Amino acid sequence: MKPRVLSGVQPSGNLHIGNYLGALKNWVRLQHDYECIYCIVDLHAVTVYQEPKELLSKIRETAALFLAAGIDPKISSVIVQSSVPAHAELAWMLTCVTPMGWLSRMTQFKAKSEKQETVGSGLFQYPVLMAADILLYQAAIVPVGDDQSQHLELTRDVAQRFNSLYGDTFVVPETKLPAVGARVMGLDDPLKKMSKSEPGAGHAIALLDPPDVIRKKFARATTDSNPCVDFGGLAPGVENLLNIFQAFAEWPDERMRSHFAGMRYGELKKQVAEMVIGRLEPLQSRYREITSEPGYLDGILREGADRVAPLANATVDLVKSRMGLYVRP
Ligand code: TYM
Repeated sequence: MKPRVLSGVQPSGNLHIGNYLGALKNWVRLQHDYECIYCIVDLHAVTVYQEPKELLSKIRETAALFLAAGIDPKISSVIVQSSVPAHAELAWMLTCVTPMGWLSRMTQFKAKSEKQETVGSGLFQYPVLMAADILLYQAAIVPVGDDQSQHLELTRDVAQRFNSLYGDTFVVPETKLPAVGARVMGLDDPLKKMSKSEPGAGHAIALLDPPDVIRKKFARATTDSNPCVDFGGLAPGVENLLNIFQAFAEWPDERMRSHFAGMRYGELKKQVAEMVIGRLEPLQSRYREITSEPGYLDGILREGADRVAPLANATVDLVKSRMGLYVRP
């Protein structure tokens, strides 16, 4: 049996090149060597208020983007988290073994809760639900961007704590970060991670942005007052542009240096934009195909949920019996 991979994306905004380079690109690559489950984590999205109609359309859009990026539903399972109730069920059991102190230390909770007028307790429990997503399928590998590393550490701690309290139950998962592109920064502010929830028009390159919009966004990207690329002292904005290019082009460091050293920023921005446009073009045309076929997406999501439900239910039953809860005969 192949080891399992699990990962997820929140359908809480427009997916961007950070999501692609940090996560989706690796997901596609892992499909052939692992049994992969990729989730649209809608229950995570509602830890902050989402407009219901918009959320539903973002769930569909995110699913279509997974497929457009190259996830093959014949070999990987694509699921909407809330359509497999075992995620929420296991999350409750794990909540009961997770000390509040561990959750209070989560930097994403601190950052997100500062932006909310009222902080729902779901936002605090968010990492436990994420641990449940992963442990439910006994996933060995979790491909994510760098910003999820702390949540993954917590997942490992929760698994180990459960295993030591109730006996060996969960596989303790490993985090898999991409070599380049693990942390794509905002184009407007290269000290901030590129994020779906950031409002600025020049902040992120969305996967569905048309070419002229991509060109404009790169043309406005923050650099510094130098005129051209100096590998001896790269400003954060310039380093970010080079990283984006390298992650898409898959060029080795030496080729990057010899090609870009001394290049004027205007030309650098043009070349990065054309690279990104070229790489996104096939994804965008597959997206249009997928969304023009009525019923196709729902079929994939139903199939995915049907395929994984027995695995998920088996883990919930195992956890129940370990904890001494009643397992329905
Ligand atoms: P989310 O929806 O914020 O992001 C989805 C994936 O994209 C990566 N990512 C980035 N990578 C590089 N640069 C960036 N600027 C960037 N922004 C986002 C994220 O690291 C992530 O891999 N909590 C998760 C969703 C989740 C999950 C899970 C992930 C729920 N359950 C189980 C893995 C396993 C999140 O909010 O990702």
